Amino acid sequence: MHIRCTLLLTSVFLLFSRADAYFGYGLIRCLFTSKDDVVYLAQLYFNKVLQGQYNSTLGKYVGYTEKMKEIADELNKNQRFLEQEKKNEQKCRTNVPLVFDVLSRPVEPTVKLRLAESPESEHPGMLMCSAYNFYPKQIKLTWLRDGKEATSNVTSTDELPNGNWLYQIHSYLEIIPKPGENISCMVEHASLMEPKFYDWDPTSEAEKNKIAIGVAGLLLGLVFVLSGAVFYKRNTTSRILVPTS
Ligand SMILES: *[C@@H]1O[C@H](CO)[C@@H](O)[C@H](O)[C@H]1NC(C)=O
Ligand SMILES: *[C@@H]1O[C@H](CO)[C@@H](O)[C@H](O)[C@H]1NC(C)=O
Ligand SMILES: *[C@@H]1O[C@H](CO)[C@@H](O)[C@H](O)[C@H]1NC(C)=O
Repeated sequence: MHIRCTLLLTSVFLLFSRADAYFGYGLIRCLFTSKDDVVYLAQLYFNKVLQGQYNSTLGKYVGYTEKMKEIADELNKNQRFLEQEKKNEQKCRTNVPLVFDVLSRPVEPTVKLRLAESPESEHPGMLMCSAYNFYPKQIKLTWLRDGKEATSNVTSTDELPNGNWLYQIHSYLEIIPKPGENISCMVEHASLMEPKFYDWDPTSEAEKNKIAIGVAGLLLGLVFVLSGAVFYKRNTTSRILVPTS
């Protein structure tokens, strides 16, 4: 499992060197890269540029400018500062179970079962079962034809990361649907107590088409009615304009 999470605590640091004072903002961060890998960082920025930081992996302060290198050297000699940073790192570690508890909660997928356009016209039908926004990544989509698992003519994508910790997956079933056949997509996932079934309803697709045809027909009808009205109006006006003699 690859998890990266950042806890941010903003604070303002005042660092004094002998003659002058530096003012910037500091970020104290706990980077959770895995259950037993925590990196604690105390970073000092000035004008948005990272000047120096304490990195728990290194166990010391590092400066990136001449001045900060000097300061880092001084701080690294100061046992009290280093001990404080060790304590902060420990605070990060104690938060690990909490962070992982929140992050490892399963998120149930939204599933859509629909007719997909087949790129190859020789395949008359391709059903697509899509699961969106689920976590964790492990999921199983199974096609059922009249309750029996269908394995042939099934293709699937990998679990695709959305980039927001959530995943999506798409499974395809190429079929020549038989009338009255029941096709469903079964979803098994950590967020579900038991497998969830999504049934393919060919009539709903046909209904949608009927509705589309109906709407198109209505619009066409309207166009004819309107043009008819215009035609009729023209006729009447011309009739009126025709002088009687
Ligand atoms: C902290 O130090 C380790 C070891 O040098 C390094 O791999 C890591 O990139 C550092 N982290 C940051 C944010 O600089
Ligand atoms: C399909 O499902 C319907 C409703 O659940 C059921 O009445 C019918 O017998 C099923 N057909 C087949 C072939 O299993
Ligand atoms: C799989 O697809 C092929 C070619 O389209 C077809 O001949 C075959 O019957 C399909 N298999 C099933 C189980 O539907």
